Amino acid sequence: MKLVKHIANLGYGSRKDVQWMFREGRITDAAGEVLYADDPLDHDNVRVDGEPLDLPPGLLLMLNKPVGYTCSMKDPGRIVYDLLPPRFRLRSPTLSTVGRLDRETSGLLLFTDDGQLLHRIISPKSKLPKVYLATLADDLRGDDAAIFASGTLMLDNETTPLLPAELEVIDACHARLTLHEGRYHQVRRMFAAVGNHVEALHRERIGGLGLDDLPEGQWRALDAPHQQALFAPA
Ligand code: URA
Repeated sequence: MKLVKHIANLGYGSRKDVQWMFREGRITDAAGEVLYADDPLDHDNVRVDGEPLDLPPGLLLMLNKPVGYTCSMKDPGRIVYDLLPPRFRLRSPTLSTVGRLDRETSGLLLFTDDGQLLHRIISPKSKLPKVYLATLADDLRGDDAAIFASGTLMLDNETTPLLPAELEVIDACHARLTLHEGRYHQVRRMFAAVGNHVEALHRERIGGLGLDDLPEGQWRALDAPHQQALFAPA
């Protein structure tokens, strides 16, 4: 791929914009030598205004999503992309969220531009566990864990029962729920099905990957070992 196309695909501008950046001498190598649009692509050796290029395609990012942000670009109000560098919205291939979290749910949200990886993470076949911490409006009943583990719980408007899910009771109104699938508003609907209401919801883990010390509202690119951790047992 030509350098100009690579840089445009990273969201620095249209191909025409990037051609101008070359003409203005803003694109150099690491030693400060001016580069040209047709020069061979050597990602790590390219600088724009003296800065290294953003990460190349094949990205996997995690975000510690705060409450109040939605995952869809179409939704009004604040969206999770507002928490990433503005250029990331313009990349090709597109950087997508891996599944979604509700506006009122916080915690671990992944993004990738790798379609195969995205599919592998969300595919029901991979059954990657997703761990949520729920704060409930009412005290747990006592039979909630058994109902969630049964594999027979049917939610409204669904045609198949939920897969068994594990509930760890922390105290009367806090519990950790591990799901092996991802249905619409699943955690909130599961607690509604046992007569409760989720007041706060936070995703702690996906597969073997947790947020570690990532502060709320911050993102981090995940390198190959972290990507492997995702698919390793927690
Ligand atoms: N379940 C929900 O109800 N909401 C989320 O955001 C994720 C899982």
